[in-house]
Amino acid sequence: MEKLVVHGGQPLTGTLSVSASKNAALPLMAAALLPHGVTVLDQIPQLRDITTFSHVMRITGASVQCMDRKLTIDASRVDFPEAPYDLVKKMRASFYMLGALLGRCGQARVSLPGGCAWGPRPVDLHLEGLKALGAEIDLDEGYVVAHAPRGRLSGGSYRFEPSSVGATVNLLLAACLGSGGSRIENAAIEPDVLVFCEMLTAMGAKLEGIGTRTIEVEGVAELHPVQFSNCPDRIELGTFMIAAAIAGIPDQPVVMTHTRSDHLGNEFLDAFQGTGAKCIIDDSNSTITVTAPERLTPVSITTGIYPGFPTDLQAQWTVLLACADGSATVTDQVYGDRFNHIPELARMGLMAHVSGNQVTVQGGKPLSGARVMSTDLRASVSLVLAAMVAKGTTHVGRIYHLDRGYEALESKLSQCGIQIRREQYDEFAAVHQG
Ligand code: UD1
Repeated sequence: MEKLVVHGGQPLTGTLSVSASKNAALPLMAAALLPHGVTVLDQIPQLRDITTFSHVMRITGASVQCMDRKLTIDASRVDFPEAPYDLVKKMRASFYMLGALLGRCGQARVSLPGGCAWGPRPVDLHLEGLKALGAEIDLDEGYVVAHAPRGRLSGGSYRFEPSSVGATVNLLLAACLGSGGSRIENAAIEPDVLVFCEMLTAMGAKLEGIGTRTIEVEGVAELHPVQFSNCPDRIELGTFMIAAAIAGIPDQPVVMTHTRSDHLGNEFLDAFQGTGAKCIIDDSNSTITVTAPERLTPVSITTGIYPGFPTDLQAQWTVLLACADGSATVTDQVYGDRFNHIPELARMGLMAHVSGNQVTVQGGKPLSGARVMSTDLRASVSLVLAAMVAKGTTHVGRIYHLDRGYEALESKLSQCGIQIRREQYDEFAAVHQG
């Protein structure tokens, strides 16, 4: 197994280039299954989740080739409409295969994803929504078995409550090639969904209301393959901004390039500026300059749907609060028990108390290096952030979680002055060394 070894206390300086978005790439890949022919996706990050999803797509008969962050997906042949448990259990986004295969083949057999590291993540809205669009759905030995009667979904109307990113994507994948019209109310308006809708439109899908809470789809008989460019990763950008705020030197701005700052959402930007960190965004939204304040002011946040504070940034925010003077809270209204990072951060000296869906952080107490363990993707990066400001050396274990979603993190950070390196380790031996 691999771990990251971080010697804390080094300042972050220089320029960080933001990679392309993982969460936007996965729906784009799923969309590439809809047309017959070769779709080319540019700006696809080199990450484990992308490799996993490529495997899931290959099972169906599609060919997926990756070179230099360009994915070439040949969906001329898609003749096995199934997503097996062994792959779906590795990554929940594989559940996008349900909508994609239902749209493309009129049938799908996709493993239920089950829980995840931070608790239950239901898919009831995906299933109810697809039924409302005309799908017949049964459960069989842990698999969702879906059919479109007469080969194509008739279409229909569905209102999400709550709004769901994943379920909005799944319904759109299924509805575009339907025989009739569909209406999705309280649709997700996260940037990932917008970019996905742009690609569907480029492929010939008939969508109205993109970027609003109501999307109308007029089914078409076929879509055509396209070449399409993915957007930058807003969660990586937010993570880097937090890194600059906690580990940057006052008066020495850290520059983030290849950004889409308009994808961050106002609540994150407002909270960030409330801490005293200075943030200058260039006119094209593609560069952000962050200057750390002398002292960080604690700002409480509550996660919410876009443009709310992203749930994918709350673990990192907890580390920022640990570095601020005073007490503040992190409340997760999207995933109410996403706090696996707290006990690990506590091993580094974090003073925090979890109650229900809220953690109260008492900041200003120095963190110290320790052996800690990643439990999920965002939790693992919060440990790296904490390690950067901790006194001494931190060993962050099980970084296969981190590799799902952060491209070349250690090389990006080390180029900016952070002492961080990847090492092999034997977890069993490490346990006995204490
Ligand atoms: C969530 C994030 C998304 C992020 C992704 C990966 C939000 C709104 N969504 O997307 O930005 O990229 O995690 O970490 O922040 N729900 C149900 N039934 C369902 C589906 C969802 O009850 O069938 C609930 C969830 O429990 C949650 C809410 O709806 O409380 C929003 O979930 P959803 O947007 O679907 O989450 P993800 O697609 O996982």
